[in-house]
Amino acid sequence: MIHRIGHIALRVADLDAAVAFQQDVVGMVETERVANVAYLTCNERHHELVLIEDPAHRGYEHIALEVDDPADLERIARCVERVGGRALGGVYDGQPGIDRAIRVRSAEGHVFQLFHGMREVPAPPAGDRPIKFEHVSVKVRRPAAFERFLRDGLGLRFSDRMGPFASWWHCDADHHGIAVVLSPRVELSHYAYAWPDLNALGRVADRLRAERDRKLVWGPSRHGPGNNHFAYLHDADGAMIEHCSELALMPPAGDYQARRWRWDPTTINQWGGPPPLRFLLTGYPIAPAEPGRPSWAAAPVADH
Ligand SMILES: [Fe+2]
Repeated sequence: MIHRIGHIALRVADLDAAVAFQQDVVGMVETERVANVAYLTCNERHHELVLIEDPAHRGYEHIALEVDDPADLERIARCVERVGGRALGGVYDGQPGIDRAIRVRSAEGHVFQLFHGMREVPAPPAGDRPIKFEHVSVKVRRPAAFERFLRDGLGLRFSDRMGPFASWWHCDADHHGIAVVLSPRVELSHYAYAWPDLNALGRVADRLRAERDRKLVWGPSRHGPGNNHFAYLHDADGAMIEHCSELALMPPAGDYQARRWRWDPTTINQWGGPPPLRFLLTGYPIAPAEPGRPSWAAAPVADH
């Protein structure tokens, strides 16, 4: 089964600029670079973020989900195909930092990599960094079909719902690993890092201003569903990052009770007003996905 949200892989216009943003503002550390691909982390996992330089195809490459057992890769891919999804080729290996993977696509086009075996690396030097990659939020046109894909295909569990507009799903103790938002556009809404507390979100906002002379898109405040603090900003390519703290824990690790929320602005902003238009309209497209092992996901060529 899937037991963790792994990371996200993003296609970016300028790899050095995208890596520098993640280092300077977020605190990520580069662990490996192979040709046009950089692997970044904030802990002892080889990567929590993959950046692929590809100016021709702006968009996210895949959302990665970690499974317990290598046999789960093909088993979950078959479940996905029974609920309208499709496997993008078979199991492949050779991607730096992971043992093996398979990718699947939802009927509307969201792409997930199921992977097994994340390599450990030495802990990064002491610094102000996220705890981990935490969740993604995706926009879909047909939420009911996508929720079937999450529940009956990938095996995620329900956490919360806000009218017909949004729902939240978990695969471990965290309240959500994937959020689903009704939208006319099928794209990524945002990806999210976990931080220890609200002060850390302030330090990210300070670095955004000091290092890039830019401001937050929305927040800081507290969401209702998940009860987490949030601060949203755009990364170097305009994809939206949420920085979170105090995300609720689901039973048995925590005592959060799944519920249905009313659709009004105070639901997703417990401290203030409705989300700004810039937040609602931000989206990062889905990059075209080739079947089988993506050409960028190759192991480094040994020197002779
Ligand atoms: Fe979020």
